[in-house]
Amino acid sequence: MPSTLNAPTTTTAQEIMERLHLLAQHTEQEGMMTRTYLTAAHRGAAGQIAAWMRDAGMTVRRDAVGNVIGRYEGTEEGRAVLMTGSHFDTVRNGGIYDGLLGIILPISCVAAWHRAGKRFPFPIEIVAFSEEEGVRFKAPMLGSRAIAGTFQHAVLNNTDEQGISMRDAMQAADFDPAKISAAAAPKDSIAAFIEVHIEQGPVLLNEGLPLGIVTAISGASRFMLELEGLAGHAGTVPMNMRHDAAMAAAELALFIEQRCSNIDGLVGTIGQWQVPNGATNVIPGRCTLSLDLRAGDDAIRLAAVNDIETELARICSKRGVRSKLTKTYETTSATCAPWLQDGWRTAMALNNCTPRLLPSGAGHDAMAIATIAPMAMLFVRCGNGGISHNPAETMTSEDAGIAADVFMDFVEHFDAVAASATASN
Ligand code: GLV
Ligand code: MN
Ligand code: MN
Repeated sequence: MPSTLNAPTTTTAQEIMERLHLLAQHTEQEGMMTRTYLTAAHRGAAGQIAAWMRDAGMTVRRDAVGNVIGRYEGTEEGRAVLMTGSHFDTVRNGGIYDGLLGIILPISCVAAWHRAGKRFPFPIEIVAFSEEEGVRFKAPMLGSRAIAGTFQHAVLNNTDEQGISMRDAMQAADFDPAKISAAAAPKDSIAAFIEVHIEQGPVLLNEGLPLGIVTAISGASRFMLELEGLAGHAGTVPMNMRHDAAMAAAELALFIEQRCSNIDGLVGTIGQWQVPNGATNVIPGRCTLSLDLRAGDDAIRLAAVNDIETELARICSKRGVRSKLTKTYETTSATCAPWLQDGWRTAMALNNCTPRLLPSGAGHDAMAIATIAPMAMLFVRCGNGGISHNPAETMTSEDAGIAADVFMDFVEHFDAVAASATASN
């Protein structure tokens, strides 16, 4: 039987969509969605999320990295938590659904259970992860890594564009970096982690399906690359006597594009590209850029990284340019637990949804939590061709309602799904 509590789907869906738009008002830049770690907009969103969690009958705590954690107590003592959630930071000029849907949707579902006086044997925790995108301090998944106990303390020294270190920004916001280790979830305290997220791609849209079950999340390697050549006069230095750092970057970029093309699931991106102190009439003496490489298969990604390093050395030697390549982040691909995928399948069948399986090329908090607990993800169809990390990102209220119904059925059948997984092992 599908959940009866989620019958007023339209109301729940409307609440979810209204709240997503309300939360979008907490932005650093008027007219666009930008909310990076520990800014005033970030603080405002955290306060609003905490208030909605309390209204939904949850107790709320913050941890040392600023995660907002709402807990809906269970009826049986000592049960491990069913954890869900996603991130409340955004990229610059991004969309309003990426991350936020996975926080706001479960809050509305818990609110419905709370109104009906329904509790589960196990506690539910919704985590609004404070940082996933890695925008301000070039270190992603700070919130989920803290809970997984894999927070890299070296990133506290990373600085933002104003030269403020993450450590200083945390202290200014009243978070104590010395207490980050205490944010880690105790061993075996999480029975499972599930994340609802917009697909950020066109697969579901093109197939006319509202929801998809994620099979695995791609691994990623990220780097910052500094190239140093020789600045000079743009009008006087002959082309064959130049040490142009930006041209070296351009040659590498084209190599990356060619190396990643036509290999299933391998993608390479240079998302940031600066010529410090550049001017129209100056040969670029320096160039700094970011590299982001991903693949569902870790061996394919690592082979590409290796080839890119070799090509970088060749280009630099040929052009008389020096390079410094710094790895800023690396994560292996993560498989979604088959028994939790079965849980989504059961919940989708109850709601007449086709259980479309698909991999995730985007990174998610779930992959950090996967190191300490079984995890699974539910994708929700995007509109506008599936665009994301873009203000044109969108989804429908109807799909929010279907996703909420499926989420509620997943939770309501969670113990049964877990029991049948244990029995078949
Ligand atoms: C997160 O949005 C990512 O970079 O995949
Ligand atoms: Mn994102
Ligand atoms: Mn996201």
